[in-house]
Amino acid sequence: MDILFLNGPNLNMLGTREPEQYGTQTLSDIVAHIEALATEVGLSIEHHQDNSEAGLIDKVHAASKNGTKYMIINPAAFTHTSVALRDAILATGIAFTEVHLSNVYKREEFRKQSYFSDIAEGVILGFGAQGYEFALNAAIKYIKER
Ligand code: DQA
Repeated sequence: MDILFLNGPNLNMLGTREPEQYGTQTLSDIVAHIEALATEVGLSIEHHQDNSEAGLIDKVHAASKNGTKYMIINPAAFTHTSVALRDAILATGIAFTEVHLSNVYKREEFRKQSYFSDIAEGVILGFGAQGYEFALNAAIKYIKER
């Protein structure tokens, strides 16, 4: 697997969940689009959405054993709470981009704290689903240059 694409809690509700924050596209629409773009350039991608911290951590652990070269992660609410997911990523040593659909800096104070930004290659936020495309382009460049 070249790229692991991970989405955290409540992102399975995209489409109907606070559309003013997160847009109207469903997660399946977004994933289908990203998978098609990755396939076009010959890269394999696996998507996983999980509402539990354990499920996300297990996927990150699996990535360290299956040759994953890059990760695109929207940790959702775990962005602001999860030392455990941060540690799992650090344990793998795999480079990743942190993505948020909304501009978390325009929102509540607690969303300004991220356990991932200082260990990410880069952070993309506020561009809705398009942010995943930007992250994919960064992943493609990263992989092709190595
Ligand atoms: C989010 C922002 C988080 O603060 C929030 O808890 C989410 C989604 C985003 O994509 O904008 O669930 O990660």
